[in-house]
Amino acid sequence: MPETTDVLVVGSGIAGLASALAAARAGQDVLVATKATRPEGASSWWAQGGIAVARDHPEQFKEDIIAASDDTADPDAVDVLVENANDAVRDVLVETLAVEFDSEDDEEYDFTREAAHSEDRILHVDASTGRHIHVPFLNYLDDHENIELRDDTAALELVRHEGRVHGAILESDGAYEPVYAGATVLATGGIGDLFPRSTNPTGSTGDGIAMAALAGADLADMEYVQFHPTVYTGGQAERGPRKASGETASSEDADPFLVSEAVRGEGGLLRNGDGERFMPDYHEDAELAPRDVVARAVATERRETGVVTLDVGPLDFAEAFPDLVELCEDRGVDWTDGIPVAPAEHFLCGGIDVDDRGRTSLDRLYAVGECARTGVHGANRLASTSLLEGLVWGLRAGEDAAGDEADPIEAPDLLERDPDLPDDFARQKFHRLTRVMDECVGLERDPDDLNRALAVLRRLKGEVDAYVRTRTARSLYELRNATVTALLVTRHAIENDESVGTHYVVDAASESETPEPRADD
Ligand code: SIN
Repeated sequence: MPETTDVLVVGSGIAGLASALAAARAGQDVLVATKATRPEGASSWWAQGGIAVARDHPEQFKEDIIAASDDTADPDAVDVLVENANDAVRDVLVETLAVEFDSEDDEEYDFTREAAHSEDRILHVDASTGRHIHVPFLNYLDDHENIELRDDTAALELVRHEGRVHGAILESDGAYEPVYAGATVLATGGIGDLFPRSTNPTGSTGDGIAMAALAGADLADMEYVQFHPTVYTGGQAERGPRKASGETASSEDADPFLVSEAVRGEGGLLRNGDGERFMPDYHEDAELAPRDVVARAVATERRETGVVTLDVGPLDFAEAFPDLVELCEDRGVDWTDGIPVAPAEHFLCGGIDVDDRGRTSLDRLYAVGECARTGVHGANRLASTSLLEGLVWGLRAGEDAAGDEADPIEAPDLLERDPDLPDDFARQKFHRLTRVMDECVGLERDPDDLNRALAVLRRLKGEVDAYVRTRTARSLYELRNATVTALLVTRHAIENDESVGTHYVVDAASESETPEPRADD
């Protein structure tokens, strides 16, 4: 008998867990399959700043989201987010999981602020909010009688027939079998492995995006890749060699770490290699300008003056950010001299196109969290809205997904004629992929470079496909997924010649009215 479940969720970040919770509350049996072997395998665990809520000003929150997106966010999607924000956080995080957000006294939460927010509205736990939500969420679902959490389990392909998705082929310990589901929810997170420097955990290979694209689902806004401006990169040119499949980065072994935007929200200042504060010359909101503006300014100043540091002198850093102090001390960074920072890939604003319930263009396939494009972020995401989007859309998708029974059909045949891969095959190809993405599809994009990347990636896909046709290995599928996703990002970037938000086209930008870097240096 083939394995069946009512709802199959692929991925274990906040969006996937919220989908599982909502489907289970509706009486469904839910299987959550995740590649992660530890909580740190989900991006949600790494979220620092916090989770924004609407408080008493949903209109103001909406305006901030739309302004940060360069007026490209979908207002209807933003309405869904802001109108559901307070209730979703209260219901799931406060009442169900008992997350203890920082408070000033027993009555009042200590709301904080990050770039491009017009009021203090971010709930947080120190600067490690993600893990304080993620761990209780995993524990809660682990104890839920309708939910099975299966780790170290990758989805390789969707099972699809005539526009309907019937589940996925899951791989665990080298063995693979289809699992049939009434509905399948993709919650596979981001695309950090496509770039040499990223805040995502290792293993962020765009799996859901690639599987959905290969099954024929619509995608949108793939060119909008957000780079976080302040990441301590440990002086490394790129993040360490990819680990074996299934392993993930952790705070102990990952050199780079995010320095939350909340540090700038509390008064941290960016200084260049000459010790000068530069952000007021780039934007009237200075350090709290939209993230894409700050990221490009940091990159420019690093190029011109060698280094950029985040000066934490104006705030009581040790008191406000004990977790970041610990990370600095672990890496031997003397934060009293300022923390050296650089931009790094952080979040994909686009992805699998979904409606306000997470429904994709394929029947019974849902997508939530970073792999989905809801329209909330447009070309640039406002800080601390990703956990919220994952929570709100996760709940809505999980609720909507309930109701259909699994219908086992014939699954695609995965071949295993010659299971041995050349040593280091995936690692070498990943190196080529991340190099071309870094050089051509990063913070600033030149049309000629984008076309060069397209040619390199097409060749790479041809080589990878030749292997996928004859072998089934998780590392090979991750490589295939990363290559397909990189091609999608590049194609969408080529098709959009307008500089907007995170998509900065060098030619177009020089003709537009983008603020010039300062002239007084
Ligand atoms: C941060 O803490 O700076 C990250 C917040 C986010 O990306 O939403």
